[in-house]
Amino acid sequence: MHTFPANAPKDLYEAFAYIGSVTRPTIDDLKLMVILEAAGKVMYDELAAGAADPKIRALLNDSGRDELAHAWRVSRAIGKLIGTDYSVPAPEENPYLVGWVKPELTLELMNSLAETEFAGEANYERWAESCGNAEASQLFRQNGREEASHGHRLKEVSELLAACA
Ligand SMILES: [Fe+2]
Ligand SMILES: [Fe+2]
Repeated sequence: MHTFPANAPKDLYEAFAYIGSVTRPTIDDLKLMVILEAAGKVMYDELAAGAADPKIRALLNDSGRDELAHAWRVSRAIGKLIGTDYSVPAPEENPYLVGWVKPELTLELMNSLAETEFAGEANYERWAESCGNAEASQLFRQNGREEASHGHRLKEVSELLAACA
């Protein structure tokens, strides 16, 4: 099992809220982000599994794949900063997925998650600006752009859900 960095929130949803408040991440914050992004992949796959519409499933799975890529990019950014990449946990090694409350696919959740994704873009941009390492900043920006596309996908999911209702 992967261990949490010191002082990391122990609950997945609390960790999302915490990381959204970090403007200048420490290395421990970045490690937490690796674990969180890797959990984000499983969260999206779980949401996709609960969708009857294959278009919705595809949109959610696409974002899930990106979240895992985000975990690897943050891991590489850590490598640029301290010389060693941080390992990305497999789902069964991810402490945020132990006894977690699985999300349910609802219109409300899609709308609030879309806002979280757009905020995620802004957050990565702040990290890129405050980071003294150009290569790490570029990795953060690439993640940020994709968080915005996740926000747009979730808006699309909301429209599809509303149309089915
Ligand atoms: Fe992400
Ligand atoms: Fe995302």
